[in-house]
Amino acid sequence: MRKTVPDFFQMKAEHEKISMLTAYDYPSAHWAEEANLDMILVGDSLGMVILGYDSTVPVTMEDMIHHAKAVRRGAPQTFVIVDMPYMSYPTVDLALKNAGRLIQEGGADGVKLEGGESFAPIIKALTQVGIPVMGHIGLTPQTATQLGGFKVQGRDVETAKQLMRDAHSLEKAGVMGITLEAIPAEVAKRITREITVPTIGIGAGKECDGQVLVIHDMLGMFDRFKPKFVRSYADIKTTAVQAISQYITEVKEQRFPASEHEFSISQEVVEKLYGKE
Ligand code: KIV
Repeated sequence: MRKTVPDFFQMKAEHEKISMLTAYDYPSAHWAEEANLDMILVGDSLGMVILGYDSTVPVTMEDMIHHAKAVRRGAPQTFVIVDMPYMSYPTVDLALKNAGRLIQEGGADGVKLEGGESFAPIIKALTQVGIPVMGHIGLTPQTATQLGGFKVQGRDVETAKQLMRDAHSLEKAGVMGITLEAIPAEVAKRITREITVPTIGIGAGKECDGQVLVIHDMLGMFDRFKPKFVRSYADIKTTAVQAISQYITEVKEQRFPASEHEFSISQEVVEKLYGKE
C-alpha cells in the first residue's frame, strides 16, 4: 500500500529507517516498487544520468512531468516525490503553479526543492495549501557553482550553524522531510536529533532517518563519476555492454536469430506464393 506523510513521521518516531532511491522511468520505478522501497524520488539528477547534461540546471518542468508520469505508471503503490527543477520556484506564485503541475499532471505525492531558510516563505506557501514538500539542504546541485562546486558543506562552525538554522526554518515552514546532501555525519546526526521531521541523507552518514541514492549510481549504470558516498550494489553497465557485444557478434555470425525466434507459415502457403522449388 502507498505510504503517506504520517507514515514517514511514524517511522522516524519508531526508529525505522526510510529507504529512498531515485527512479526516472517505468522499469526502474517498477523494480523499486517490487523491492518494496518506501519512497521514490524523481530527481532532477535525471538531467545528468538520463539526459546527459553536465548539471541539473537545464532540466525543465516538461522533463520532470514527462518522467514523473512514467514513474507513477511503474509504481502506482509507492510514495513519489518529484524535484522542482531549476528556477521553477523563485517566487511563491511560480512555486504554487509548478508544484501544482507536478502533483496534478505528474502524479507526484509531494515535491522537493533545494534551499535553506531564505526559501522558507515559498515552502510555507506550498505546505499551507496542502502540498507535501521535502526540503534539500547541504550540497544543493542546482546552485553548486555558488557553493564552489560539488563539495561537502557545513565543515566549519559558521556553515554548520547555518545548516542547523536552515533545518529549523524548513521544519517551521511545514516540510515533510529534509534531504541532507554531502554534509558531515556529526552535523547530520545533530540535525536529525533536533528536528521532528524525517531527514533523508545522501553522503550525510548513517544517523539520518533515511537514505537516498541515485539509482544509476548504485546499480552501476552511470560511470562518468562516482561520489564517495555511493556504494555499488550491481554493475549493470558491464553486464549490458557484454550483452550488447555478444548480440553484435551473434548477428554478424548469423547465430541470432535462431529458428525459435522465427514465425512460420505452412508449406502449402509457401507453394501458393512462390511455387514448388
Ligand atoms: O536529484 C536528485 O537525484 C537528488 C538526490 C541527489 C537527493 O536530489
